[in-house]
Amino acid sequence: MILVTGGAGFIGANFVLDWIAATGEPVVNVDKLTYAGNLENLASLQGDARHVFVQADIGDGEVIGNLLAKHQIRAVINFAAESHVDRSIHGPEDFIQTNVVGTFRLLEAVRAYWNGLQGDAKTNFRFLHVSTDEVYGTLSATDPAFTENNNYEPNSPYSASKAASDHLVRAWHHTYGLPVLTTNCSNNYGPLHFPEKLIPLMIVNALAGKPLPIYGDGQQIRDWLYVRDHCSAIRRVLEAGKLGETYNVGGWNEKANIDIVKTVCALLDEMRPRSDGKSYVEQITYVTDRPGHDRRYAIDARKIERELGWKPAETFDTGIRKTVQWYLDNPEWVANVQSGSYRDWVQKQYSATSN
Ligand code: NAD
Ligand code: DAU
Repeated sequence: MILVTGGAGFIGANFVLDWIAATGEPVVNVDKLTYAGNLENLASLQGDARHVFVQADIGDGEVIGNLLAKHQIRAVINFAAESHVDRSIHGPEDFIQTNVVGTFRLLEAVRAYWNGLQGDAKTNFRFLHVSTDEVYGTLSATDPAFTENNNYEPNSPYSASKAASDHLVRAWHHTYGLPVLTTNCSNNYGPLHFPEKLIPLMIVNALAGKPLPIYGDGQQIRDWLYVRDHCSAIRRVLEAGKLGETYNVGGWNEKANIDIVKTVCALLDEMRPRSDGKSYVEQITYVTDRPGHDRRYAIDARKIERELGWKPAETFDTGIRKTVQWYLDNPEWVANVQSGSYRDWVQKQYSATSN
């Protein structure tokens, strides 16, 4: 059995669904259920004994230690984090608490459990830390893409907190021998993405007739990966990654923000045209830039491709079409997120915390 943290969030929930479908191996899912945690994401697993949900903080060493021992966990995949750059600018405290202190406490609980394992259970145990390309800082238009050898140069409270967590994970390997793996992935998109992030925000705002806010000149570049491709990369790194190594994960899809938004508008024009016959691009509005806004991210994914044979299954064209279709097909999910009623889901659908 594996233990996933943050499995009610965007990537974590996609991972849990993907993992159970692909491997059938049961998952203990530990999530604090912050505003970003949504158990409705996992509704299709309700009543499935292969999914054990526990509402808890990764910083609660006692709960984590008990879960590791009770379920004889063979691997931990750490998704839990505060993940939104804009929120980190307005209020960095939660980012330090969860991403830095929380990761530290999680590592300590895992180290105590791992120290008590014997034989194959100890040799085969893995701790996989899910991180971001933002730890490498920003690129100019002509810089080569980030490799695993780039220096860490984080620029936002979010990326600084993720960088700190990566360093802790690295140190726990070098000092204590903890069998760790780290992945640094580019921007994900796809189903279940919370509509505070660029792509889902643009889809839901467009459909609601609201402005589509572009920060600054809209020429900032991100490297986009369909979320299920990130999930398959994590599965592959867990299976075959070299202990103590880091793997960059990306889809070779560098796009300027304004082009992303225009693509979303064009798809909506085709799939759900505006009733007045005009294009959704009419709703684009330029707004004040994000402070310290990184100009460009780009991932060089050759290491994971060469050493582990991983490749993304989706192109940007196929992935973005699937994503827009998912939001069109799931208006109730969007409405529950926007009204906040997704937060009642725990009470409605699950009994109280159990471990
Ligand atoms: P998210 O914000 O959608 O989900 C985070 C989840 O973690 C939520 O379910 C939340 O309730 C949970 N959580 C937060 N604090 C917690 C705590 N103290 N204890 C337990 N659970 C807690 O984030 P996401 O976009 O799914 O990102 C998941 C991970 O992947 C993060 O570590 C993020 O840094 C990393 N990442 C994200 C992207 C991306 O594009 N979204 C890209 C690369 C890496
Ligand atoms: O690169 C990986 C990172 O990608 C992850 O580590 C983060 O968790 C994830 O949130 C994401 O960070 P970004 O800041 O790149 O994502 P976001 O969707 O917030 O913004 C994408 C780009 O779009 C960024 O340049 C800011 C811009 N933007 C965003 C919003 C929400 C806008 O122009 N307007 C908006 O309203």
